[in-house]
Amino acid sequence: MVTSKFTNLIDLNDMPVSWWNKVISLGSEIADNPKKYAHCCDGKIMATLFYEPSTRTQMSFQTAMLRLGGTIIGFDNPATSSVAKGENLKDTTKIVSGYADIMVMRHPSEGSAKAAALTAECPIINAGDGGHLHPTQTLTDMLTLHKEKGRTENLTIGLCGDLKNGRTVHSLCKALSCYKGNRFILISTKELRLPFYIKDILNAHGCEFKEVDSIDEAIPQLDVLYMTRIQRERFSSEEEYERQKDVYRLDHDKMLKARNDLIVLHPLPRVDEIAIDVDNDPRALYFKQAEYGMYVRMALIITVLRNDYRTELLVGNVKNGVKCSNPKCITHKEYYLPNSFRGNGDTLECEYCDERVLLRH
Ligand code: NCD
Repeated sequence: MVTSKFTNLIDLNDMPVSWWNKVISLGSEIADNPKKYAHCCDGKIMATLFYEPSTRTQMSFQTAMLRLGGTIIGFDNPATSSVAKGENLKDTTKIVSGYADIMVMRHPSEGSAKAAALTAECPIINAGDGGHLHPTQTLTDMLTLHKEKGRTENLTIGLCGDLKNGRTVHSLCKALSCYKGNRFILISTKELRLPFYIKDILNAHGCEFKEVDSIDEAIPQLDVLYMTRIQRERFSSEEEYERQKDVYRLDHDKMLKARNDLIVLHPLPRVDEIAIDVDNDPRALYFKQAEYGMYVRMALIITVLRNDYRTELLVGNVKNGVKCSNPKCITHKEYYLPNSFRGNGDTLECEYCDERVLLRH
């Protein structure tokens, strides 16, 4: 077992639900009175290491730290850092974590945040690791539900778009399955269905869910419609992306079929999946959701810097000679990482990216 010296946020499910609820209620308090928190992080430095494009996540983290009185360092283009010279993740994060008090990282490889946390000298926050997870977007989504629906339980949530590659969807389903009475309607083409391991989590928590093909079929039943972008950068071919890209589009006509108390969320950026004519509908809350993201990140920074919850990084066993079967897993890029898996027998689960690995004898 490897336990961290720090409160890292790699996957929300590493913490108890009570921990998330505290972050959300602090975020809610900050949203109501941000000035009160203006000096909470005086003298603290946050590093943002963005190996993938970002507008909201990066800027909301940066403004969150600045609004708390702290300062920021970092890069948003690895091509202008030593990464371009071939520096590995371990060295970059180890060095930067020596300069900063807290580090926020987005990276295209799945499991990269956990890999960085193994050697970092400060807490790490996962701001998106490939198509795997995006826990701070989920905190944003949950603060939005708390503020706008008054609850994170007993909701019927429709998730639409790229459920296969959308990390925001994966984190949100995992988190909302931990509250009672949530039902999921998964709207996607059959090629872009939610991964099996997430469906197993929904089943394990006794959550009702169904998979459907059309928005029209689902929309009248929903409390929340969570739209997502087709994740072009995660497709192996441009042709496949072209086939998927325009399948779903929420517009004014579709909104006519929805309840008055529906809320429409989207982690953004939007491409074409929500028509501009929906923006003026009072049920369209995606811009407000982005603002809540800043407040919840202020709450998260304060909570992580308190460092009163130690996360376990590796709990399984190192299996020399077994490689994760997910080509996007960080273990295929950073060879020094211990090949650590949960479970025993013939089915193992990679501890970095959660991929199931079947052993053949
Ligand atoms: C999302 C992401 O990066 O996963 N954006 C965000 O952080 N708000 C969604 C996306 O890129 O589609």
